[in-house]
Formats: sequence, C-alpha cells, structure tokens
Amino acid sequence: MATHFYTASSLDGFIATSDHSLEWLFQQDFDMEGPMAYPAFAEGIGALVMGSSTYEWLLRSGGPWAYAQPTWVFTHRQLSVPEGADVRFVRDDVGNAFPEIDASANGRDVWVVGGGDLAGQFADAGHLDEVWVQYAPVTLGSGQPLFPREQQLELVDVARNRDFVCARYRVG
Ligand SMILES: NC(=O)c1ccc[n+]([C@@H]2O[C@H](COP(=O)([O-])OP(=O)(O)OC[C@H]3O[C@@H](n4cnc5c(N)ncnc54)[C@H](OP(=O)(O)O)[C@@H]3O)[C@@H](O)[C@H]2O)c1
Repeated sequence: MATHFYTASSLDGFIATSDHSLEWLFQQDFDMEGPMAYPAFAEGIGALVMGSSTYEWLLRSGGPWAYAQPTWVFTHRQLSVPEGADVRFVRDDVGNAFPEIDASANGRDVWVVGGGDLAGQFADAGHLDEVWVQYAPVTLGSGQPLFPREQQLELVDVARNRDFVCARYRVG
C-alpha cells in the first residue's frame, strides 16, 4: 500500500491558475490508454484525498460524482456533498488523520489528488511515497503550486503521452 500524489502540471510548476482555472490543461492532448494514464493508475486506488479548493472545483465542474472510493476532504469549513458520494471531511494534521484514511483504502493505495501543499503535508508527515506528474507544454507564470517544499525525489519512470512529459518519482 502506498500513497501517491498524481497530478498534471504546467512546465513552470503550477497545477491551476491563481483563480483555479484548468482551461490551459484541457486544451492538451492526452491518451487515456497511454503511458501513466489515469484509468490504469486509478485501478489500484482505494481512497482519495484532496483539499477544499480541489473539492470545490470538482463540485463546480458539475456532473455525477465520479468516484466510488471514500474521498477525504481537508477543510475547516462545512461543504456540501453530492448525492451518493462517500465524502469524509477532516481538519487535522495529516499524521493524525492518516491511519483512518489508510484503513479506508482497504488494502489499496491512497491518491492525494491535490493541491500541492496538502501533498507536501503528507510528505512532511512521512506518508507520501510517490509523486506522478504529467507536465503540459505550457507555462503559467503564477498559480497554485505543484509542491511548495524542498524535497528530494528519485526519478523512477518517465514517458511521453502525446502532449505530456510524464514523470514518476519516489519520495526520498
Ligand atoms: N492540474 C491538476 O491535475 C490538478 C489536480 C488537483 C487539483 N488541481 C487544482 O489545483 C488547485 C489546488 O488548490 P489549492 O492549492 O488551494 O489546494 P487544495 O489542497 O485543493 O485546497 C487548499 C485548502 O484545503 C484546506 N486544507 C489544507 N490542508 C488542511 C488541513 N490540514 N486541515 C484542514 N483543512 C486543510 C484549506 O482550506 P479551508 O479554508 O477549506 O480550510 C486550504 O486552503 C485547485 O484549483 C484544483 O482544482 C489541479
């Protein structure tokens, strides 16, 4: 069982614009059957984790809730829950929250969806094993940071998927 931060990023290390837009990302071409694509990655995932900005982006994007797995949302606020979704709110240090999150994954892996600082909190607590980044061929100049920490990583895999350079790192 492992915990992965799996995300797309601009070349200059932002996962969303300052106003939380992902328009720049969805213009890019990505093969869902190709290397390091989401469907194969998601097969091993037993629980999702995200911060409230990421959760609110998913709520705004509409449509039915896409995840059958428990989804842990870190927030200090009260937020709505889509019908039928297994959403669990948490406001705590990652170290305190992790045992319950891990247990909810039922022997499978945990996916930290975002944002970057929350992934960093997992790393700080010693609970982040891998970082997977799909780099889009675009720079944003500013925005929500990929991983606002100094962190040594080991490159374990790299591939091209159409417009993206996909890299998989082990957390040192
Ligand atoms: N490029 C991609 O593939 C990709 C992937 C994922 C996300 N995104 C986007 O990236 C952006 C990320 O936004 P973000 O940087 O603001 O990060 P975020 O992690 O989504 O949200 C940060 C918020 O989560 C809450 N939080 C974080 N740690 C907490 C803790 N330990 N306890 C309680 N609450 C905690 C706080 O909000 P409260 O005020 O609610 O307490 C904090 O302001 C979003 O726009 C998202 O849509 C992009």
